[in-house]
Amino acid sequence: MTSTPVVRERAATDVAACVALMAKTHRLSGYPAHWPLDPAGFLAPEAEIAAWVLDDGRGGVIGHASLHRAEGDPAFEPVSEMSERSSDEFAVVARVLVDPDAQGGGLGRRLMEAATAHAEALGKHALLDVLVTSDAAIGFYENLGWVRIGEVAIHLDRGLVLETYVYSAPGWPERSG
Ligand SMILES: CC(C)(COP(=O)(O)OP(=O)(O)OC[C@H]1O[C@@H](n2cnc3c(N)ncnc32)[C@H](O)[C@@H]1OP(=O)(O)O)[C@@H](O)C(=O)NCCC(=O)NCCS
Repeated sequence: MTSTPVVRERAATDVAACVALMAKTHRLSGYPAHWPLDPAGFLAPEAEIAAWVLDDGRGGVIGHASLHRAEGDPAFEPVSEMSERSSDEFAVVARVLVDPDAQGGGLGRRLMEAATAHAEALGKHALLDVLVTSDAAIGFYENLGWVRIGEVAIHLDRGLVLETYVYSAPGWPERSG
């Protein structure tokens, strides 16, 4: 019998399974591009507001997404350059992962809907950043109507620099200025 995956809030007990899932997407889908020194800290940093998993209904985790505070996040840099808006008005969707064996079935869309709906419920507009070389993820976000608003370089430990595009969820800056 097959069960329909459910989006639910991530529990502390899910973190190990999410790190294992992230290792799989790192290996097979190229995200994250560089394996972090502290995988659990990368997955669930202090800046996190909320996080969700896709539960396969059989005790497995096959997807993850989270929402981070915009203050201090590189994705907010282009916004602060183009407007007077406060970082409190934004939140950053991050750590979006779908099991490579389950990609292409609409699960990533459901995770994005959960994250952006939560941002809206908090009165915040969603942003995200994506590597300029991640053609598949860029295609996914643009298919969902996200709009490229700038670029930012992210400086990681080990001297790594990631060139990223910053995207806005639909509806900004076109409508609200
Ligand atoms: C990117 C990712 C989250 C997408 O999840 P997914 O479950 O495969 O995507 P979905 O099936 O929900 O796709 C949603 C829509 O985006 C479209 N889409 C998905 N991948 C696409 C691509 N490469 N190019 C264009 N459109 C794409 C789908 O066709 C679908 O559109 P439709 O509903 O109009 O048919 C998933 O592939 C993934 O986990 N990749 C590895 C991790 C990663 O790169 N994360 C992003 C980090 S910035």
